[in-house]
Amino acid sequence: MTSSNGHRTPHAGLTIWLTGLSGAGKTTIADRLETELVARGRRVEKLDGDVVRQHLSKGLGFSKEDRDENVRRIGWVAHRLTHHGATVIASVISPYRDIRAEARELIGDFFEIYVKCALDVLVRRDPKGLYAKAFSGEIPNFTGVSDPYEEPLFPELTLETANETVEQSVDRIITRLEEAGLLVEPAATVA
Ligand code: ADX
Repeated sequence: MTSSNGHRTPHAGLTIWLTGLSGAGKTTIADRLETELVARGRRVEKLDGDVVRQHLSKGLGFSKEDRDENVRRIGWVAHRLTHHGATVIASVISPYRDIRAEARELIGDFFEIYVKCALDVLVRRDPKGLYAKAFSGEIPNFTGVSDPYEEPLFPELTLETANETVEQSVDRIITRLEEAGLLVEPAATVA
C-alpha cells in the first residue's frame, strides 16, 4: 500500500510467499519468521498448506486442478489480509508458476521466496516417510517425484536449506525485507 506522497503507509500489508518441495523447510521457516516479525510489531497471519487443507481447502486432493484451487484460495485470503495491513506468511508447495504469478498479481505487495532443497537431501531426511511412499507408488502424484514442481524464475529470494540453518535463512529474509524497505517502522513512514 502506498500513500499519495509515495511512502508506504503505516498499515502497509505484505505477503511473504514461501514455495518449495515438501520437507524443504517452509513451515519451520514460517514459524521462526513469524516470531521475528511479531517482535517487530507486525500483525502476522500464517497460511500453511497442510493447515489450510484441514479447513478452507478440506476435501481437495493433489490433482493439478485441486492444487490450483488450493493455491488460489490461499492467494485470495492473503490478498484480503494484506489489503488490511497484515503481514501474511504463506507456506505452500504451490508447484505451478502461473498460479503463483496470479497470486502475485492479485496481492501486489508480494515477496516470493524459493525454499530450495535438493531432492536427494529431502529423500534422505524424509521425517514423515512421504518420499519413501512416493517412490514406492503408495502416494501417487507426489511433487518432485511423480508430479511437477516449477521453480520460480525470479523469486525475491532463494534459500538453500541444505546449506544454511533456519536462523540463517530467517536472518536473510529479514535483511532482504529491510533492504527492500518493507520493514520500515510506522513512525518513519508517516509524512
Ligand atoms: S499444493 O501442491 O496444493 O501447494 P500443499 O502445500 O497445500 O500443496 O500441501 C502439501 C502437503 O501435503 C505436503 O507437505 C504433504 O504433507 C502433503 N501431501 C500429500 N500428498 C501429496 C502429494 N501427492 N504431493 C505433495 N504433497 C502431498
